[in-house]
Amino acid sequence: MATATQFYDDKVVKQFTVMTVVWGIVGMLVGVIIAAQLYWPELLGGIPWLSYGRLRPLHTNAVIFAFGGCGIFATSYYIVQRTCHARLFLPGLAQFTFWGWQLIIVAAAVTLPLGLTSGKEYAELEWPIDIAIALVWVAYGIVFFGTIVKRQVKHIYVANWFFAAFIITIAILHIVNSLAIPAGALKSYSLYSGAVDAMVQWWYGHNAVGFFLTAAFLGMMYYFIPKQAGRPVYSYRLSVVHFWALISIYMWAGPHHLLYTALPDWAQSLGMVFSLILIAPSWGGMINGIMTLSGAWEKLRTDPVIKFMVVSLSFYGMSTFEGPMMSIKTVNSLSHYTDWTIGHVHSGALGWVAMITVGCVYSLLPRLLQLPGMYSAKLVEQHFWVHTIGVVLYIASMWIAGVMQGLMWRATNADGTLTYTFVEALKATYPYYLGRLAGGTLVLLGMFIMAWNVWKTFGLARRAEPVAIPAPAHA
Ligand code: HEM
Ligand code: HEM
Repeated sequence: MATATQFYDDKVVKQFTVMTVVWGIVGMLVGVIIAAQLYWPELLGGIPWLSYGRLRPLHTNAVIFAFGGCGIFATSYYIVQRTCHARLFLPGLAQFTFWGWQLIIVAAAVTLPLGLTSGKEYAELEWPIDIAIALVWVAYGIVFFGTIVKRQVKHIYVANWFFAAFIITIAILHIVNSLAIPAGALKSYSLYSGAVDAMVQWWYGHNAVGFFLTAAFLGMMYYFIPKQAGRPVYSYRLSVVHFWALISIYMWAGPHHLLYTALPDWAQSLGMVFSLILIAPSWGGMINGIMTLSGAWEKLRTDPVIKFMVVSLSFYGMSTFEGPMMSIKTVNSLSHYTDWTIGHVHSGALGWVAMITVGCVYSLLPRLLQLPGMYSAKLVEQHFWVHTIGVVLYIASMWIAGVMQGLMWRATNADGTLTYTFVEALKATYPYYLGRLAGGTLVLLGMFIMAWNVWKTFGLARRAEPVAIPAPAHA
């Protein structure tokens, strides 16, 4: 009888899984370096390509597109095969997506420190790299949708709906936002100008959050939480409502990044209202994920992988409550430009995105290698605690710093003059930058623990008798 690993094309899944851990370490290491630079501005001695302004986009690109991206490729290729009972469509093209994506990451890691940037946040890469991204993305779409088309089961499982929406939307966002006129091999100017450019950029930026940092990870959640808990999804009907509501509402919320700007007032209000409505589908999804554990709550005590997943959902709930609150114009007038935004970003990024990815890799790897579990469950448990404490330290520091900055900046004396100078507010922020650095360092330490555990699990697989998981009946 054929086993699952003989039947499915898992080489590319393994490659992307390993690179998720590698890029996770690199991206978070750069995060720790820039956090240290904010505390010790002279840390790297004024070397231009190691300056804060160049390393910051390197951090965001590495964590979102390299760490998060590889995690999404790995899990989507794994899930689409299992839920469709079909091998990947065109495995050679899947290999192209792997090598192409790695090459793009390396190109980003070279050009960003050199200061080559389009200047658009989360879309900094210059036009030749943008074209490469579009090509790899189309190839990804062909492999994914090709596999769906050749599926052996009638039904398309809900996780695939989330991945499908993510693939289509990111293609549209990337191509529209990156349209530019080249002015040399590594320089270009956006096709849009002024307020239109800003609107297109934040339509892209916000939906990059909604689809890259949310929809794809919800796809992961809908497959791996039921698998790890050994329970069906709490409500399949809710998952379908969740899907349609989420993808239709996210598209309109982008203007909340441009409140009090030259954007027409009606567009700002529209963004605010859609952001508030967004609480409903976000919380529906969170509740669906958490309630999948009903009847298996004891696993929350015994299984550290489940702990990662449930805490990630709690952070998802927190950041999707906080986001709509920050979209209210009066609240945004306090939070905008402050470290509160950075706290919100990382409660989503480190709490939700990183924890669900890490949890899913711990769930996926033993299944992929036909082992009963990771090399060490104790190390997974330690990783969980180090990461959780690190995230809480990070975001609590940023929340306190952010609200304090907002209040200090707006405080006025009886005669209308400002109570505090900007430097006074900066000095008051310093202790919290140290708190963030400590939190970030703990998170990075957790990633090293993970790398060691993953390495040893591969070693175990080379020596152990595989636990044969049968292939689908018709294979
Ligand atoms: C060890 C972990 C991490 C540390 C120490 C860290 C640190 C930082 C620092 C210092 C900044 C700049 C803040 C500023 O400009 O004031 C930043 C920005 C950012 N980070 Fe991280 N980070 C970490 C992990 C992550 C992860 C895993 C993600 C995403 C999955 C992420 C996404 C972002 C984003 C999107 C921004 C830009 C925020 C904005 O422009 O408002 N970070 N990070
Ligand atoms: C209902 C869901 C959400 C809403 C309505 C929302 C809303 C907001 C608002 C109002 C801002 C501040 C804009 C500003 O003042 O400049 C913001 C920033 C941000 N949020 Fe969210 N948020 C949500 C969920 C999330 C999640 C889950 C993540 C991450 C996984 C995330 C990542 C970010 C990032 C990266 C930024 C910083 C963008 C930048 O300025 O560079 N958000 N969000």
